[in-house]
Amino acid sequence: MHYGGKIIAGLIIFLGLVSLPFWFNLGSAAYKQPKVELPKNEKNCVESKEYMRTSHMKLLDQWRDWALRDGKRTYINHNGKEFTISLQNTCMKCHVSKEKFCDKCHNDAGVSPYCWDCHVPPKEAK
Ligand code: HEC
Ligand code: HEC
Ligand code: HEC
Repeated sequence: MHYGGKIIAGLIIFLGLVSLPFWFNLGSAAYKQPKVELPKNEKNCVESKEYMRTSHMKLLDQWRDWALRDGKRTYINHNGKEFTISLQNTCMKCHVSKEKFCDKCHNDAGVSPYCWDCHVPPKEAK
């Protein structure tokens, strides 16, 4: 019993040190996305920003399947607003720069969607 307190104190200090990196990381653990250029004349995306941020790839997949398999060319969002199903003519009409928008995040996240092998990105303003 005599040494018990010291051992416990030692353990607490040890655990505190071992978990230091964890505590330091708490503030920055959330993924910080790079600054992207957002459309100047538009306030809203096809769906909410949060949804787009995490799920735009799923939405694009759906769009492709609907357009190509089902011939469905109109998307109605959660507010009842209609959009033409098109990567080039809809997404890229608002997001006018692939480099300053899509690529910014993708380079950071280490993904390179192959879509642009076929789909034409907007001309970049130099
Ligand atoms: C009508 C214009 C418009 C269209 C069409 C549009 N967007 Fe957006 N998008 C915006 C705006 C404006 C924002 C910023 C929304 C906000 O700040 O709430 C945005 C945000 C986003 C974001 C989140 C960016 C961030 O900072 O987290 C992603 C990803 C995105 N759009 C992808 C797409 C894709 C993919 C499509 C096509 C399926 C698309 N957008 C179609 C206007 C548009
Ligand atoms: C806010 C940051 C952000 C923006 C802006 C953004 N993306 Fe992404 N995108 C990501 C991330 C992160 C992933 C990887 C997600 C994963 O692996 O789960 C991704 C993945 C994808 C994928 C799937 C690729 C794969 O290999 O899994 C497609 C397709 C895609 N994005 C298309 C687009 C298009 C088109 C635009 C521009 C209109 C765009 N994204 C803009 C962050 C973004
Ligand atoms: C091998 C070439 C090729 C690649 C790679 C490709 N697509 Fe397509 N995509 C097409 C063709 C062809 C169509 C049909 C165009 C039409 O009928 O309007 C199409 C249609 C689409 C459509 C619906 C209509 C439209 O005009 O946008 C979406 C959305 C789409 N693709 C998204 C994607 C996404 C997202 C990726 C990357 C993950 C991708 N595609 C990669 C060839 C390709």
